[in-house]
Amino acid sequence: MVNGKTLYLSPFQGITDAAYRNGFRIFFGGIDKFYCPYISGITGHRVSRSKVRDLQPEKNNLADTVPQVLSKDADEILRVANHIYDWGYTELNWNLGCPFPRVAKKARGSGLLPHLDKIREILECVMPTLKIRFSIKLRSGYQTHEDVFRIIEVLNDYPLHEIILHPRTGKQIYRGSAQPEIFKQVAGRTTHRMIYNGDLFSNKDLERIKAICRPHGWMVGRGALRYPFLPSTLKGQLWEEKSMRKALEGFHVHLSEDALSRLQGRVQFLDRMKPVWAYMCHTFEEPLKVYRKIRKTHTIEEYLTVANEIIQHFPIRHESEPFSERNSVLDGNYP
Ligand SMILES: Cc1cc2nc3c(=O)[nH]c(=O)nc-3n(C[C@H](O)[C@H](O)[C@H](O)COP(=O)(O)O)c2cc1C
Repeated sequence: MVNGKTLYLSPFQGITDAAYRNGFRIFFGGIDKFYCPYISGITGHRVSRSKVRDLQPEKNNLADTVPQVLSKDADEILRVANHIYDWGYTELNWNLGCPFPRVAKKARGSGLLPHLDKIREILECVMPTLKIRFSIKLRSGYQTHEDVFRIIEVLNDYPLHEIILHPRTGKQIYRGSAQPEIFKQVAGRTTHRMIYNGDLFSNKDLERIKAICRPHGWMVGRGALRYPFLPSTLKGQLWEEKSMRKALEGFHVHLSEDALSRLQGRVQFLDRMKPVWAYMCHTFEEPLKVYRKIRKTHTIEEYLTVANEIIQHFPIRHESEPFSERNSVLDGNYP
């Protein structure tokens, strides 16, 4: 079980936008803080509206929502920080975890992890000037886990709000499994609040990780996208089938109405909704069958009919599936 206000939803570019976060809060619950997908490329003096549209205060619950920046430029980080501070946010998160080669090769995200001097230089510049809390989400290294042991020495010199550690290297992308042992060793070398992220898919996973390390809090990602009842279940809530279907229906209506109001045409609409199902299909007994049915739809009407049929009638899982290295990379990559 997870105690207290310590369960966070991790950010997913293209999926966990404001409508997703708000829908999750309303229909599934269990999440104490929602981390937003990163923003980047904030060049020039002004923050362009299109980059921060998803963070507009009127679309978000400022009290539990944390914007994230991906950058290796102190001025850019400060520009974003000041902008969201003016909007009423209380925390900014810095992404040092993104593993994707087009990001990491430019020494951003997890690609910045081997560059200790650069990380220190950025913190030296931003920390004295920041008006809001600053947290960091990182992987345990780029090529090797050894990076994180050097990095934590640097981070210990600054008053960070929290550190969220996903103990995999950037090079691993999602291969292998997250390493709670590494998390434990890092947590032993710092007094910062340490949040655990990585491969938390079920209560069994929680107990497995807890037997190794004792984080101050938890961040759940694919596990919650696959099985949105997971966060509340980890906090002890019991769900009956009727209320599960009602929650799925409400969430789906919320998400699709947002997409219909915001996006133009069937292609954009389907491109928004289908990736959600690449994860959410795991809420049902036969995920592959569910995902294939969704993937085959070509019009908005056809999609809505199929999605409703699945939500109302397909057998639902009553327990989330624990992490397995074998299927860890299947999300969104079904044949
Ligand atoms: C498609 C995709 C997009 C992601 N976007 C972000 C992002 O914008 N910012 C971030 O910090 N992490 C991002 N992540 C990483 C997840 O937030 C999370 O840290 C990772 O999946 C490990 O947690 P999990 O094992 O609980 O899923 C993304 C992952 C995927 C697969």
